[in-house]
Amino acid sequence: MNTEEMKFYGEFAPRLIETQKLLLDEVQAILDSISTDSEKAPAEHVKSRIKHSASLCEKLRKKGFEESAESGLRNLSDIIGLRVVTHFVGDIYTVLDLIKKSDKWSVAEIKDYIADSKPNGYRSLHVILEVPFGCGSIEAIKVEIQLRTIAMDCWASLEHQLKYKKNIRNTELIVSELKRCADEMASTDLTMQTIRDLINMG
Ligand code: GTP
Ligand code: MG
Repeated sequence: MNTEEMKFYGEFAPRLIETQKLLLDEVQAILDSISTDSEKAPAEHVKSRIKHSASLCEKLRKKGFEESAESGLRNLSDIIGLRVVTHFVGDIYTVLDLIKKSDKWSVAEIKDYIADSKPNGYRSLHVILEVPFGCGSIEAIKVEIQLRTIAMDCWASLEHQLKYKKNIRNTELIVSELKRCADEMASTDLTMQTIRDLINMG
C-alpha cells in the first residue's frame, strides 16, 4: 500500500494488511497440504491485492453507498481479493473443500461460474468469505477468493485487456469469437484433467 492508499484506509490500513497476510498464509497452508511428491504445486500461482481507493469509491458510488473506507468494509466483499490459479479443474474443487473446512473464516457465498459460465464465457469459482476483522467498530469483513485454472486465467486476462480497447468494430463477431475461445479452453481443461486422471490411475 502506498502512502496515499494508507491515508485513505486510515485506521483500517494496518489491519487490512494483516488480514491479507493471514488469508495468504492460510491459503498457502491449504495448498501445501494437498501437494504430493508427483504434483508438488497444485497452484500455478496465488495473487492478492487490496482494492485501490479510486476503484473502491467508483464501486460504492455506483451502488449508492457512502464513499469511505468504512462504508467499503461494511458494504463490499472484495476490498481484499485473492486469486488462486490452479493447473487442473479438479484442483479448484479440492481447494474449495478445504476452504470450507478451515476455522479461520466462514464461507458466506459460492459463485460457481465454472458450472454456470457467464454469457460471455467467463469461468472461475468465486468464494466470498467472512473473516474476523476487529478494528474500530468493524468486527468482520467479507473477502473474495477467485479460483481458476491457468486456461481460465489466461482467457480472463485477455478479455480484460480487450474490454479497455476503444472503438471496437464488429462487436457481435468479437463477442462470439471470445465466447468460442472460452468454450474451447474449457474443453481443453477437461481433456487435460482426463489425461491427468489416466496418468494417476496407471
Ligand atoms: P462486481 O463485478 O465485483 O461488481 O460484483 P459481482 O457481484 O458482479 O461479482 P462477480 O462475481 O460477477 O465478479 C467479481 C470479479 O470477478 C470481478 O471484479 C472480476 O475480477 C471477475 N470477473 C467477473 N466477470 C468477469 C468477466 O466477464 N471478465 C473478466 N475478465 N473478469 C470477470
Ligand atoms: Mg460483476
